[in-house]
Amino acid sequence: MPSVSQALVGALVLMVDFATATLREGVLPAYHYGAPIPVSCMNRSTETGEHIQDVHDEIQWIPFPVCNETSKPLEFHYGTESEVNCTVAMIDDPFFHLLEFYIHSDAPLACRLPARPQPHIEAQEYIPLVFALAGTLQKSHLHISTHLNVLLHSTPKHHVHPHDSGVLDSGIAYSTSPLSHMDGSQTKRLVIGDPLPLSLSVRWFPTPALPKTEGKVEWAGMGGHVYASTIFYGLVSFTAGVLGSAVYFFGVVLPKRLRGRGLGGATPLGYGLNGKGVGNGWGIAKRID
Ligand SMILES: *[C@@H]1O[C@H](CO)[C@@H](O)[C@H](O)[C@H]1NC(C)=O
Ligand SMILES: *[C@@H]1O[C@H](CO)[C@@H](O)[C@H](O)[C@H]1NC(C)=O
Ligand SMILES: *[C@@H]1O[C@H](CO)[C@@H](O)[C@H](O)[C@H]1NC(C)=O
Repeated sequence: MPSVSQALVGALVLMVDFATATLREGVLPAYHYGAPIPVSCMNRSTETGEHIQDVHDEIQWIPFPVCNETSKPLEFHYGTESEVNCTVAMIDDPFFHLLEFYIHSDAPLACRLPARPQPHIEAQEYIPLVFALAGTLQKSHLHISTHLNVLLHSTPKHHVHPHDSGVLDSGIAYSTSPLSHMDGSQTKRLVIGDPLPLSLSVRWFPTPALPKTEGKVEWAGMGGHVYASTIFYGLVSFTAGVLGSAVYFFGVVLPKRLRGRGLGGATPLGYGLNGKGVGNGWGIAKRID
């Protein structure tokens, strides 16, 4: 059995790791809750579906189509879980052909999100966000599923406050119920010139991991409030407690900032609940005032 002093030394090592990560994280910009995250996508040839390169042979990224609701290209908000409507006002001929490529998976609707807010010095990093669109093609028209789930993961971080800031880790967007496309629910029969009414359910997760249904962490389903992060935050709180004792024993004076962060012990439990039973992730529901 490890002695008490071994345990304390282990705790100190953990503390130093924690401090290092905290300091490194403090240097680069992070998203604050609700911060807008613009979506940009590969520009593609409407004839071949191939991506278009600029003069430097670099892929050309263009904003997601403008949503009629906001008069702006689609954007998400950091940590905000919501139902978003984005109606593309008019599907013109070129866009219609691109939709055919997307639906046949000849070319993906490949988009990206800035992992962090605009940095001042370093190059911007992006995470890929593919929109897996489902539908069927007919001679004169197409059917397209109009509801999409958007899952966004944040990097693991010590979220001490409910509205803590963070960085994007990964994401995916996909049409739901692709087989119901003929019955008219959440599907659109589209001809050139029609509007395309997309609705997106956006959910956030505090780590790259998905909640588990077996093992120690349960996924309680719709309206659930047990998250994969629970154990992680439990460990953080426990470690913080041990650190408190270690500090006392060794007489080490912790930097004030670290202590403030480390001993908080708050968890994001329940933040995904918005009272309507739809928030399963970790982000907060957009307040509807
Ligand atoms: C996408 O590429 C096409 C073909 O080069 C070009 O005409 C079009 O302007 C580009 N789109 C945007 C938004 O820049
Ligand atoms: C989105 O559109 C649907 C259908 O038009 C509507 O019922 C719903 O209220 C809209 N949601 C928001 C958040 O605007
Ligand atoms: C787009 O918005 C305008 C102004 O809000 C509205 O008049 C128009 O009907 C909308 N079009 C679609 C396709 O939703």
